[in-house]
Amino acid sequence: MCGIVGYIGESQAAPILLDGLSKLEYRGYDSAGIAVFDGGQINMSKAKGRLKVLSELTHDGATLPGTLGIGHTRWATHGAPSDINSHPHFNESKSIAVVHNGIIENYIKIKKMLEAKGYKFVSDTDTEVVVHLLDYYYKGNALEAITKVMHRVEGSYALGILFAEEPDKLYAVRKDSPLIVGKSENGNVIASDVPAVLKYTRDVYFIDNEEIAIISKEDLKFYNVYEEEIQKESVKIEWDVEAAEKGGYEHFMLKEMHEQPKAVADTLNPRLKDGKIVIDELNMTEEEINAVKKIMIVACGSAYHTGVTAKYVLEGLARIPVEVDVASEFRYRNPILEEGTLVIIISQSGETADSLAALRMAKEMGSKVLAIVNVVGSSIAREADSVLYTWAGPEIAVATTKAYSAQLIAHYLLALKFAEVRGTVSEDELKDYIEDLKRIPEQIELLLGNREKIQKFANRYVAAKDVFFIGRGIDYAISLEGSLKLKEISYIHSEAYAAGELKHGTISLIEDGTLVVALVTQEELYKKTISNIVEVKTRGAFVLAVTNAGNTEIEKASDYSIYIPKTNKYFTNSLAVIPLQLFSYYISIGRGCDVDKPRNLAKSVTVE
Ligand code: F6R
Repeated sequence: MCGIVGYIGESQAAPILLDGLSKLEYRGYDSAGIAVFDGGQINMSKAKGRLKVLSELTHDGATLPGTLGIGHTRWATHGAPSDINSHPHFNESKSIAVVHNGIIENYIKIKKMLEAKGYKFVSDTDTEVVVHLLDYYYKGNALEAITKVMHRVEGSYALGILFAEEPDKLYAVRKDSPLIVGKSENGNVIASDVPAVLKYTRDVYFIDNEEIAIISKEDLKFYNVYEEEIQKESVKIEWDVEAAEKGGYEHFMLKEMHEQPKAVADTLNPRLKDGKIVIDELNMTEEEINAVKKIMIVACGSAYHTGVTAKYVLEGLARIPVEVDVASEFRYRNPILEEGTLVIIISQSGETADSLAALRMAKEMGSKVLAIVNVVGSSIAREADSVLYTWAGPEIAVATTKAYSAQLIAHYLLALKFAEVRGTVSEDELKDYIEDLKRIPEQIELLLGNREKIQKFANRYVAAKDVFFIGRGIDYAISLEGSLKLKEISYIHSEAYAAGELKHGTISLIEDGTLVVALVTQEELYKKTISNIVEVKTRGAFVLAVTNAGNTEIEKASDYSIYIPKTNKYFTNSLAVIPLQLFSYYISIGRGCDVDKPRNLAKSVTVE
């Protein structure tokens, strides 16, 4: 999704803006641009394509002198990716420049009004109405003009704004799209996300909804939409600068896969105290936990897949009925949220538009909302009633791996806590589960160490056209994730099927040599899934089985097998997903795909 940066200070702004934008590349984009005030006027450079096109165009920023500027990476929504639709956007006299992340929903109405007053539009974007509207309202007081615009536009926006008539100030505005301000000795910065500012500062202010920041070289001031000054506290970012970069690995995805043991341990360990699970952030008394009648899990993509796993785990361990839905469906289906329903929203970024809308809807309907989120201070984290953070650190590769693994752990902890309080597991069982949990990081390490075997296998399937993932129960949930990982980064068509459902239609797609990945980790379902393996093999499929160590019986039924270390039936997903991630990764490399930034995808989907 779009990325915003801004700088005001003593140094030349353009190279800083380009560097900041490079840290936001992971968000997905199709064009980029910067605007810098040179002491007399605002100069702009923008280009469709990768950031390096813009860097070449500006000689790494050298052609744009000045110490105040804004920059943007655009992920097209309104208007195709093109130079002209790229941000920043100018008013007609080029005295105001704007970068925007989000969507102005009533832009057509505003555009008509402005056109009737003689304003000329040059792009197809919704953003351009903002700059002309600012021009319309600007009578020498930028703050007043900005608040008037905020009252007029509907939708979501994070804005970085320059006024040529106010050359010592950078303006930042936010509603429903992320924006932060970083204060440093060598100037102040704004950005859509923390990695873009880490090089300069660790002191960050999270701009809240309908707030404005006025930033000068030495000073930061914050205002609400009524132009009243407000006080804000900065947050110290503890992340390692290294953690936000590639650190020796060929790709962010590979690095992040290898960070999974740490992501899991970091999410787990703070919640284990004296052999017990303690989740203070839950903010729920034992009475409240006992009063939960139903859990509604809502999320998108891979986060939704962790929700599907969580359904099996929460129902199995805590005996609470669980419903799971994708956020874009949930929010428009007029759902029934009866009293006693706990809503869980899962999100790595904490900014996914549909998940955020689902959260707001659930709150309006009176449900308590618990968020499982990775990005601290994100919109979902701030708006939920309580937050269970996954401590996976910044995830840069578009395809999630370590955040997914951390989300699973958060769900296991939750399920065990609920089970303990509601008395659905005994003390001894709880102890065993906690021991299994503690082993997961080293078991993941073991599986990652086995990557060469998976790489060799993947090399054989680089040219595959269709791949099917099958499994039952929790294995079905793993299949969903395995299939998504493969298709999103390798562009191979793939589908996940509940193994028992295959024969109701999809099996007609199986032909000689079709690769079927069978997940077989649920002991009580071994025989059932083996029957399904036999069915596809009879139709010519080549079957790769992922199963538990010791289940050597599988070798008779399948063509190739990968074993995962022993754990209990609820936690197998945390292990089985590792070979599936590696498999997708190596296929993607073999096909020469852009692993970290797959085509058409964005890391943070802040539009619906
Ligand atoms: C797939 C992937 C996406 C996200 C989805 C939700 O690898 O990363 O499917 O899981 O877009 O994003 P978050 O978790 O940020 O809400």
